[in-house]
Parts: sequence; C-alpha cells; structure tokens
Amino acid sequence: MTNTPERRILAVANQKGGVGKTTTAVNLGTALAAVGKKVLLIDLDAQGNASTGLGIYAEDREFTSYHVMIGETDLASSILPTTVKGMDICPASEDLSGADLDLADMPRRAHLLADALAAGKNPVQNNYDYIMIDCPPSLSMVTINAMVASSGIIVPLQCEFYALEGLSQLIKTVRRVKATLNPSLDIQGVVLTMYDSRNNLSAQVADDVREYLGDVVYETKIPRNVKISEAPSHGKPALLYDYSCAGSQAYIHLASELLRREHDAIAA
Ligand SMILES: Nc1ncnc2c1ncn2[C@@H]1O[C@H](COP(=O)(O)OP(=O)(O)OP(=O)(O)O)[C@@H](O)[C@H]1O
Ligand SMILES: [Mg+2]
Repeated sequence: MTNTPERRILAVANQKGGVGKTTTAVNLGTALAAVGKKVLLIDLDAQGNASTGLGIYAEDREFTSYHVMIGETDLASSILPTTVKGMDICPASEDLSGADLDLADMPRRAHLLADALAAGKNPVQNNYDYIMIDCPPSLSMVTINAMVASSGIIVPLQCEFYALEGLSQLIKTVRRVKATLNPSLDIQGVVLTMYDSRNNLSAQVADDVREYLGDVVYETKIPRNVKISEAPSHGKPALLYDYSCAGSQAYIHLASELLRREHDAIAA
C-alpha cells in the first residue's frame, strides 16, 4: 500500500489536558513502526512528555521543536532515534511554553512547522511514512502550526462525563484552519481513551460520543490499563514495556483500523 503524502502527517490534538494525546501519539506511532512504517514523532508540547516517555532526557535534547519553529535550526538536525526501531523523534523543551509570544511577529507564523517539514532539496517529510505530532493541551499558535502541517487530526476523548466539553471549540478551530490555512485538513478519527468496561458511565459516554460524531469515531476503544501509565517512567512505549497487555493490544488494533481507513479512502 502506498500512502498518499497528504494523508500521512497526523496531529494528535485536544485542548483538554490529560485525555491521552501523548499516550496515543507514542503508542500509535510505535504500532505503526512495528508493522514496518517509518515514523517521526514531533513533540510539540513544552511538557516534553512524549520525549521523556521515549527515553530522551532533557540534557540530550540539543535542538528541539522550539528551535525548529523559530528557525534556529532545521528539522533534520533536531531529530534523534528512539528506543523504537523505525521511530525517530523531534523532541520538545520548556522553551515552547513561551513560543506563542516569540512567534507573534514572525511572518508565516502559522506555517513554521509545515515549512520546516517541506524545506530543502530532500525534505524531512519524504523520509517517513507517518509523522505524528503530539500537541499541547491548548488551541495556541503552536497547535495551529500542527494543524497547518497536517492532513489529519486524531482526537483522543477520555470516557468521562465531560468528554464532549470543548469538542465544539476544537471542531470549530479545525474548520477555520481548513477554510483559511490548510484545505486538506480533516478530522481523521476520534479515539475513546481510558475506557472502563466495568463502569456504566464509560459505556454511556461512548454511546453519546458515537451518536454525536458518527463514523469518525474509531471502533477501537483504548481501555484504562495500568501498564500504559507505568510505561513512560521506564522511558518506553507501552508496546515495548508489555506487548501483550490490553492497552498495547488496543493500540495495535487502532493502528490497523487507521491503516484500513486510509486504504479505503484511497480506494474510494
Ligand atoms: N489507557 C490508559 N490507561 C491508563 N492510564 C492512561 C491511559 N492513557 C493515558 N493514561 C495516563 O493518563 C495520563 C494522561 O495521559 P497523557 O499524558 O497521554 O494525556 P495528554 O492528553 O497528553 O495530557 P496533556 O494534555 O497534559 O499533554 C498519563 O499519566 C498517562 O499515563
Ligand atoms: Mg501530552
């Protein structure tokens, strides 16, 4: 299967905090790498959780996504290998927390990441099958840069009472970016995270979300699973920490669902 270039840059975004964005970017990326895809993860969150969770310590991050965005370095120079075969990372640093101010006066300030990915004779984006962008919990200019650079957004939604809160704002932002800055942007899928099958509320939330959003919601639900939360402290994705746990298996299913969706979209 060949991936159309416009389908392979995916931003994992939701301005709500703690819903599973980083966990999804890291483990979905790992699952895609496991089936032979070449994956680049771009950590766009000042918290740097994706970088730490992949064993990249702060002192090893010479150039980060911040330096790339402000033009201090090119993207290729920031890229480091990870513990996952086939997956590289552009790490993040705390500098990103002030990036909105730094970017405010820059020309093409919404296109900085897209430009960095496409720059030069041999653009970085051509070296990867999938580029996953881990967004911060905000709809800041940093997140807008991710949306402008991407062809699809993956939205993790935590299965809790307030799951849908803020979603209309996110959808509105995606529509605005699509209308003005990046016509090829779409919501590629919504993934239900931290699903607890013993809890009626989780099932109710999942039904409500499906009713509200329809087919854009992936069939695969990511269960609440303690191994998933333990893995980052070992500097590994859950898939390397415990391949057979329910959480890892769910991310493998999610990757195959994503590949199937893209295949169907290309065939259609
Ligand atoms: N399926 C899961 N089961 C158990 N714990 C999970 C699961 N998914 C994520 N977590 C834990 O929940 C917390 C939040 O997850 P994560 O960091 O992926 O969210 P986030 O949306 O990236 O957060 P932020 O908005 O702060 O960037 C983390 O401690 C993570 O380990
Ligand atoms: Mg995060």
